[in-house]
Amino acid sequence: RYTLVTGVQTCALPISKSFVKKFIDLLALHKLNRFHWHLTDDQGWRIEIKQYPRLTEVGAWRKQTVSGHWRRNEPNTYDGKPHGGFYTQADIAEIVAYAADRCITVVPEIEMPGHAQAAIAAYPELGNTDVLPPEPLEVSPDWGVNVHVFNANEGTILFLQGVLDEVLALFPSQYIHVGGDECPKREWHESPAAQARMQELGLADEEELQSYFIRRMDDYLVQRGRRLVGWDEILEGGLAPNAIVMSWRGEAGGIAAAQAGHDVIMASNRYTYFDYLQSEDRDAEPLGIGGFISLEKAYSFEPIPPELTPEQGRHIIGGQGQLWTEYIADPRHLEYMAFPRLVALAESVWTPAERKNYADFRGRLSTHLQRLDILDVNYRKPTD
Ligand code: ACM
Repeated sequence: RYTLVTGVQTCALPISKSFVKKFIDLLALHKLNRFHWHLTDDQGWRIEIKQYPRLTEVGAWRKQTVSGHWRRNEPNTYDGKPHGGFYTQADIAEIVAYAADRCITVVPEIEMPGHAQAAIAAYPELGNTDVLPPEPLEVSPDWGVNVHVFNANEGTILFLQGVLDEVLALFPSQYIHVGGDECPKREWHESPAAQARMQELGLADEEELQSYFIRRMDDYLVQRGRRLVGWDEILEGGLAPNAIVMSWRGEAGGIAAAQAGHDVIMASNRYTYFDYLQSEDRDAEPLGIGGFISLEKAYSFEPIPPELTPEQGRHIIGGQGQLWTEYIADPRHLEYMAFPRLVALAESVWTPAERKNYADFRGRLSTHLQRLDILDVNYRKPTD
C-alpha cells in the first residue's frame, strides 16, 4: 500500500529548502513514502520553468496578502507587504535526490485548469481574455476558490504540456498530479471563445470541457510512461481513462472511482486535513482555516471505505494527509499542525482496521513525543 503525505508550498510561506528537508526526514521516520509537493496556485508559482521565465519572474511574487481570515464578498484588509519566492530547478533536483535517499518519492502538483491566477498574471493569454477586464490579473493576494481559470485553447494546453516536459525531467515519480480541483466554470460559461471551443470539440457542457482538458494531460503523461493524479473533481465531466483520483471531499469520489475500476488515493477532509484545527475552541488555537480534526479522528482514518468490495478495495493505493499553508505562519506553526496527527495517520495507513486501538496508540505516543522533542518538532501537546 502506498502512502502519501503532502506538504504545500504555495501560499503563505516560501518554505526554505532546509525545512523541506527536515519535513522529508520526518516523513521517512514515520514510514511515509511520498511527498506530494503542491507547487503552483493562485497566490504563487513556485517552480522554475526555463521555457517560461515569467512564471517565476512575475508569478512567484504577490504585492501583498490578505490579513486574518479571508472573507468572500466582504471587505478584507491586506498587509501591504510583498511576498514571494520559488525553487530553482537545481533546488528541486537537490530535494528530489535528498528524498530518494530516504526512500521518498516526490510527487509534484501543477494545478490546472483552476488555481491558475499566478500563471495567468505571468502570461495573460492563458486566461479567458474575452471575459476579463483589460488590465492584467495580478498574482492573487486572497485565499479561497478563485474564479479566474485557464482557458482551454490549444495554445494553453500546449503551454502546460511544455511545463510538464520540464516537470517530468525533474521528477522521476510515476505519479504526476495536475490538480483539477475547485475550477469554477463561470468564465467558461460566459466566454464566447470557450463556448466556441466546446462546440468545436462537440462537448455538452463546461464539465466536459474540464474533462477534455484533463484527458489531454492524461494522454500526454501516459505517452511518457507516467500516470496522472487529480483531485476528485476530475470525475465530474467524465474521468480520464488512466487517471488516479485523489478523494478529498470526503470519500464519495474515491468510492465512485474505485467502483469504476480506477486507482484512488484517499485524502478525505473528514480525517486527513491537517490544516484544520485541533480543537473546537478556536480562540485557543493559532489562526487557521477552520474545521476540526482531533488526534483521535485522524487515528480513525481507514483508507479503504467499507462500501467497497475486496476487489474494488484493491484500487485504494494509499492515504494522504494534507497541509495547506495559507494560514500557516511559519515552520513552527506547520509542525504544530502536522504533529502529532501525522503520527496517527502513519499508523492508520499501515495498520489493518482490526488491529487499531486508539487507547493503545495514546499510551505509546508519549515515548514517540519524546523522540519528536529530541528532533525539535513543535508538535501540539495532546489534550484528550
Ligand atoms: C483541495 O483541498 N482543494 C484539494
